[in-house]
Amino acid sequence: MNKTVFTKFISIAVLAAGSFIIAACSPNQSPLKPQSVALNASETLGKSLFFDARLSSPAGQSCASCHSPAHGFSHPKREQATAEGAVKGLFGNRNVPTISYIGFTPDLHKITEDGETLYIGGFFLDGREKTLQDQAIQPILNPLEMGVKDEASLVKKIKAAGYEPEFKKVYGPDSLDNTRLAIQNITNAIASYQRSKELSPFNSKYDAYLAGKTQLTKKEQLGLQLFEAEDKGNCAACHPSKIDKASGFPPLFTDYSYDNLGLPANRKNPFFNNPTQYNPLSSGYKDQGMGQVIEGENGKFKVPTLRNIALTAPYMHNGIFNTLEEAVSFYNTRDTDAKWGQAEIEKNVNKHELGDLKLTDSEIDAIVSFLKTLSDGYQIPAIN
Ligand code: HEC
Ligand code: HEC
Repeated sequence: MNKTVFTKFISIAVLAAGSFIIAACSPNQSPLKPQSVALNASETLGKSLFFDARLSSPAGQSCASCHSPAHGFSHPKREQATAEGAVKGLFGNRNVPTISYIGFTPDLHKITEDGETLYIGGFFLDGREKTLQDQAIQPILNPLEMGVKDEASLVKKIKAAGYEPEFKKVYGPDSLDNTRLAIQNITNAIASYQRSKELSPFNSKYDAYLAGKTQLTKKEQLGLQLFEAEDKGNCAACHPSKIDKASGFPPLFTDYSYDNLGLPANRKNPFFNNPTQYNPLSSGYKDQGMGQVIEGENGKFKVPTLRNIALTAPYMHNGIFNTLEEAVSFYNTRDTDAKWGQAEIEKNVNKHELGDLKLTDSEIDAIVSFLKTLSDGYQIPAIN
């Protein structure tokens, strides 16, 4: 997507993100532990819910089981295309995305650019939920994820787990009294934790570099140039990498638009290989992405952030690539090397921004080195 559109949406994101920009860039945390930052009352409650494996049916799975802080808030199993839910043997249909920096995603909206309608923001890879709060109840009730029967059962579980005093403190004495209000408060708490600094520390090597506190190696620097150059990687066309000039806001490596990269189907996706009532089509299943939500948008998926990308393999909505080298090679030779196979959804394949980049192997290598500077928890080397 082009730059005018991006500028328009970033101002929305900045408004939505509000105060927590101020504390960005404190590069001192370990990537292997949840960041220890001060959380307010609703964020703290949301965090307890996010990590509570008693809430699933059967018990044993929390949000963090699939969105693990040690793995850039994505699934710990790097070589598994999709995740198993609380019920053993049932797998979801999509690769677990990182939810680091999710608090910056604008609510789903549309804009018109050169007479064309574009969808921006929204939640899930197909944009089917408008807001982060709307999204939060879905994994809990999804039979392929946390498997809770209905909203009333969730409220019962929350009470049985002893959360009532905490909810009363944060949301008032009647906060769990009726199901509708209770669900509103539960999802509000979970969303507020996901918007907290803990998920968006802005402390990668690249952030330290942008702040003038460290240097990139020659290879990383070359990778950054190739990433940005329109006649080379052209990655920044959709994964913006620069500080926003107007707001001074750090880059989030996504413009929150939707695109069809022409990825082939992933036959190793356990969802295909385990025909269940949830996938009666078995290997005939095709993921239409945003096309399931909005007519005509077939094959399109949300542009993901690339922050923490080195920690979140496998890659793409169907987990088809296990390494970053493979992912970048696909952009490079999609249209020139038959080994990639046919696009799962032919409609809307982006033919003008990717597919034949003419990058050499060492250029691909440099781009991958650059991508590895985007992991949070960078320690600035001491200067002698
Ligand atoms: C079994 C694994 C699993 C569990 C448990 C799980 N998720 Fe997810 N999550 C996923 C998958 C897979 C997706 C992508 C699904 C899609 O796009 O259709 C996702 C997507 C998301 C997204 C949207 C990301 C985006 O870019 O729009 C958010 C936010 C999220 N999860 C938060 C949560 C929260 C909060 C919980 C706990 C209440 C949770 N997840 C529990 C697997 C899981
Ligand atoms: C036209 C927009 C566009 C361009 C240009 C683009 N990307 Fe992407 N990128 C996307 C979309 C959309 C996805 C998600 C696709 C999917 O899952 O179906 C994605 C996904 C990725 C992923 C996987 C992310 C994950 O969490 O699984 C990586 C890595 C990536 N891009 C790197 C790059 C690099 C490196 C370049 C430049 C060589 C690049 N992208 C150029 C739109 C783009």
